[in-house]
Amino acid sequence: MNHYCKSPRYLISFNSKKLGVFKTPVLIIGSGIAGLRAALEAARSGPVILITKSNINESNTFYAQGGIAGHINNPALVNSHIKDTIQAGQGLSNPATVKFLIPKSIPLIKELIRWGLHFDGKGNHPGRLRLDLAHEGGHSHPRILHAGGDNTGLNIVNTLVAKVRNTPQIKIMEYQIALDLLTIKISGSHETFCVGALVYDNTSGEIKVLQSKKTILATGGLGQIYRETTNPELATGDGIALAYRAGAVLQDLEFIQFHPTAFYVAGASRTLISETVRGAGGLLRDNNGFRFMPDYHPRAELAPRDVVARSIINQMKLTNDTSIYLDLTHLDTVYIRKRFPGLDRLCKNFDIDITKDFIPVRPSAHYLIGGIKINRRCETNLKNLYAAGEVAASGFHGANRLGSNSLLEGLVLGQLAGASAGKIISKKGFPELNIHSSFKSDQSLSRLGITGPIRQIDIIDVKNSLRSLMWREVGLNRTAAGLQEALKKINFWCGYIMDKKFTEPSGWELQNMLTVAGLVTTAALKRTESRGVHYRSDFPETDNKNFQRKFSC
Ligand code: FUM
Repeated sequence: MNHYCKSPRYLISFNSKKLGVFKTPVLIIGSGIAGLRAALEAARSGPVILITKSNINESNTFYAQGGIAGHINNPALVNSHIKDTIQAGQGLSNPATVKFLIPKSIPLIKELIRWGLHFDGKGNHPGRLRLDLAHEGGHSHPRILHAGGDNTGLNIVNTLVAKVRNTPQIKIMEYQIALDLLTIKISGSHETFCVGALVYDNTSGEIKVLQSKKTILATGGLGQIYRETTNPELATGDGIALAYRAGAVLQDLEFIQFHPTAFYVAGASRTLISETVRGAGGLLRDNNGFRFMPDYHPRAELAPRDVVARSIINQMKLTNDTSIYLDLTHLDTVYIRKRFPGLDRLCKNFDIDITKDFIPVRPSAHYLIGGIKINRRCETNLKNLYAAGEVAASGFHGANRLGSNSLLEGLVLGQLAGASAGKIISKKGFPELNIHSSFKSDQSLSRLGITGPIRQIDIIDVKNSLRSLMWREVGLNRTAAGLQEALKKINFWCGYIMDKKFTEPSGWELQNMLTVAGLVTTAALKRTESRGVHYRSDFPETDNKNFQRKFSC
């Protein structure tokens, strides 16, 4: 994909020979479900270093509420899960990938239970569980396994982190920011080899080289490029940006899933309100108390997410309001509080009683469907670089993702990536690295003949401007004019930010956010059709002639 504005190959100037070098057979970047599961798998073959940007618990996985989709006790329904997933993907899900991943998830979910995860229901033996299965949009059957009510992600993270901490082969390094992947060319080969990462230690301020034989990127998504997002602060698209700078092939970045119902109260973060709340009977109403979803889709509140999200935006416009409302007041109060303890707690903080009051909600950016293109073994086009989880594009979700299919995908891809990376570790020693970069910062200034003190950039101001722009022009409803306007602005900001030498994380994050925002916008501009989560009001139809993907199965 051609990029709109040039970013340097490396974000900082460095010389690998002058930095501390730490060596590991397998390096894993990211500690969500995919990274943790990958670490456990790779550790069966040898030592692993797992680095994470924040503390090991902090990831998109941690905040996942709804659950993980899977018919672990009902194999007869696996085919319907496959069918629903392919249907939701609207022609872009690779059927072979879906048929491969869903059955593969079942033993891995059972393994989580053996490792101590308690899904809600009665009993906790994988064969005898009477599970309480939730329902989400686009699923033809209730099949969402959940834990601790709406605290599924937290419980999965706790289970995997405990297991990782008990695995001596895995060294956990927290507060480590991957600035760039290190790559080399080997004479006689036309391929680019990934040999590790350049890492900033956010506890000591030191920059070092983590040299690896295999590297797995599991850095999650990019929700923070949008003003409204359910994602935590760390989801700034770093993995996509650093893979892009290293030359990895990216795919389907225009497919950003907007979750219909994020909590919308001034002063509150845009916390996700799980679709399983609607699955349990929650209704959407406008400020007149009118239940509008049946007017938009026969499945009403459980229509596909993109339909619900766009319907909400439309109803907000019609009623001149900044949100719509989730109504649980007709449901059993004891059940609702027990089933959704996280939501109950959140709303209480803002004096909202979920059994009596309507809950203000509106759509928010939630999930990156596209990402770094991988094959069945989670290999990217760069030798020795693997990707898994939200950062990867496996072809599983296609143009739209079913709720709770992402934890499934993260779990399976994590296992596959760990197995692939751990499998063939060369016995040869580590080559001596001689990689350096010395880009000149502030070229835009010197081009203009301006020298002198370096400009101060208000990083937060640019981030906020970018996030508002993306929400406005690259959100739920896109047009060529809006996308071009967005690219123009992103280009302008890139002009004076990409060549700036930052020395702390928020500057590098801004550079990554600008990079991925440009890539998403470029991809959205190129897709002159509407499909799944990508809606172009200037091209409202699906254009199979030009955009249908051919699969070889
Ligand atoms: O609505 C939800 O609980 C979200 C689930 C998901 O995004 O997979």
